[in-house]
Amino acid sequence: MAVYAIIGGSGLAQLEGLRIQRTQVVETPYGEPSAELAIGEFGGHEVLFLPRHGSPHRLAPHQVNYRANLWALKQAGAEAVLAVNAVGGIHPAMGTGHLCVPHQLIDYTSGREHTYFADPLEPVVHIDFSEPYSEPLRQRLLAALAAEGHAHSAQGVYGCTQGPRLETAAEIARLERDGCDLVGMTGMPEAALARELGLAYACLALVVNPAAGKGTAVISMAQIEQALEAGMGKVRGVLARVLGTP
Ligand code: HPA
Repeated sequence: MAVYAIIGGSGLAQLEGLRIQRTQVVETPYGEPSAELAIGEFGGHEVLFLPRHGSPHRLAPHQVNYRANLWALKQAGAEAVLAVNAVGGIHPAMGTGHLCVPHQLIDYTSGREHTYFADPLEPVVHIDFSEPYSEPLRQRLLAALAAEGHAHSAQGVYGCTQGPRLETAAEIARLERDGCDLVGMTGMPEAALARELGLAYACLALVVNPAAGKGTAVISMAQIEQALEAGMGKVRGVLARVLGTP
């Protein structure tokens, strides 16, 4: 079985149920990862865990050192990465609490360190990114979601914005015209960097609010936190089941 890493997003700075056997500080040519890696057993299987925003949560989406994070996981032996992302729902099916395993993404971020091929002395490599997520890994997540009995969407287009502010209603309307079903701030460049390193990568997205202009109320942090708390139990169950599947 592949060596799995889990990147925990907002609401998952710690992986409850993870029996940490050791921690590892990884130095990378790109600087410091968000935190030391926690290596241990989850759902009866070995896993590497990294909280994307640090632990406790201290890094905004645009401050995360995505290059260091992915590099550290690869260095520590990860072969497959399960990324957990909190998102806003754009498509009507993506109500608060809904889970989705996106199959596509659109990158609206800017100014982030987004590639390992940045050395002017090295030849540029253009990775194929037509299908940004690993289909076998997506299928594993979908099988686990079905086995856990959680309503979910088997596909979705994830639009990644720069943040940290939330979007305007017009921006969300534009994303919707572009075909986005979900909006988040951390899906990129993480997915592309994983591909550059040859890591299988898939995303489990939890909807924590209606995207701007899609709900009836102002989007509040309290509302987001409540949805995170309500949804993370489901997320943990799904992750444990993926790891436990031979
Ligand atoms: N927009 C962008 N990122 C998010 C949202 C949102 O509405 N909710 C959670 N992450």
